[in-house]
Amino acid sequence: MSGYIWFEGIPFPTVHIQKEILEEIRHKFVIRDKDTIIVAYPKSGTNWMIETVCLIQTKGNPEWVQSIPSWDRSFWVETVSGYQKLINKEGPHLISSHLPFHLFPKSFFSSKAKMIYIMRNPRDVLVSGYFFWRAAKFVKNPESLTTYFDWFLKGNVPYGSWFEHIRGWLSMRESENVLLLSYEDMKKETRRMVEKICDFLGKKLEPDELDMVLKYSSFQAMKENKMSNFRLMPKESVTHDFVLMRKGVTGDWKNHFTVAQAEAFDKVFQEKMAGFPPELFPWQ
Ligand code: A3P
Repeated sequence: MSGYIWFEGIPFPTVHIQKEILEEIRHKFVIRDKDTIIVAYPKSGTNWMIETVCLIQTKGNPEWVQSIPSWDRSFWVETVSGYQKLINKEGPHLISSHLPFHLFPKSFFSSKAKMIYIMRNPRDVLVSGYFFWRAAKFVKNPESLTTYFDWFLKGNVPYGSWFEHIRGWLSMRESENVLLLSYEDMKKETRRMVEKICDFLGKKLEPDELDMVLKYSSFQAMKENKMSNFRLMPKESVTHDFVLMRKGVTGDWKNHFTVAQAEAFDKVFQEKMAGFPPELFPWQ
């Protein structure tokens, strides 16, 4: 069992993260107007969005997503290697991040860079996170879902509280250069959402190009693509149970929560999200 790196009260994985870098990217890293950024709380469909945006950039041609690992197509700004690549390679860049609002590079807030923020029913995020993090050697491993449930509500999980993450980033939802999407809408209306992303990014795709984007970003295609399914993660940092492409459905929490947990979760959700219009959260 491993622990965390704590930075400003937030627990981070112990690989690829350094406090000095977190400090530096927040204050010094310059995001440029032409950069495109994908942000999500972990387990919300971040990698699905990365795949979708990459395929939009290539107009549905799968060559790039099938030959380059996802983290070398869209650099993770908070990781040591992602940050090095961002500062050494010429842009415009595609950037990924799980950072909460208050730790994100400040330069973004005065730039015209486009950001897609994706959110997901936190109950499904919790279940997805439980199975994911318990198989990773670079975070604290929960011994049961009950343990993880408690940690999640307290925010003692990688990247901190889901509620704080959402509260922080939702404050940007009226911003012209921020597109807010949900995993649930992506599942329900994939084509329409991909069209929305194309519009937002100013990309015009022909219907058959759009078909290809949908084909190669599908759950099955990503599951089979070793450049996207995390099979390239070093063996020493994960156990054999470690999978990114687990189920890819909405509502799996119903198979895992007890009635008491479902009620406890509802109560916390109501308290922490009070003040936000419920229609912002399509799963509610
Ligand atoms: P599950 O564990 O519920 O299956 P992230 O990329 O933020 O870590 O999110 C991972 C979650 O997104 C996993 O959820 C994974 O299966 C799901 N996912 C990834 N690609 C997907 C796709 N193309 N379609 C649907 N779900 C996808």
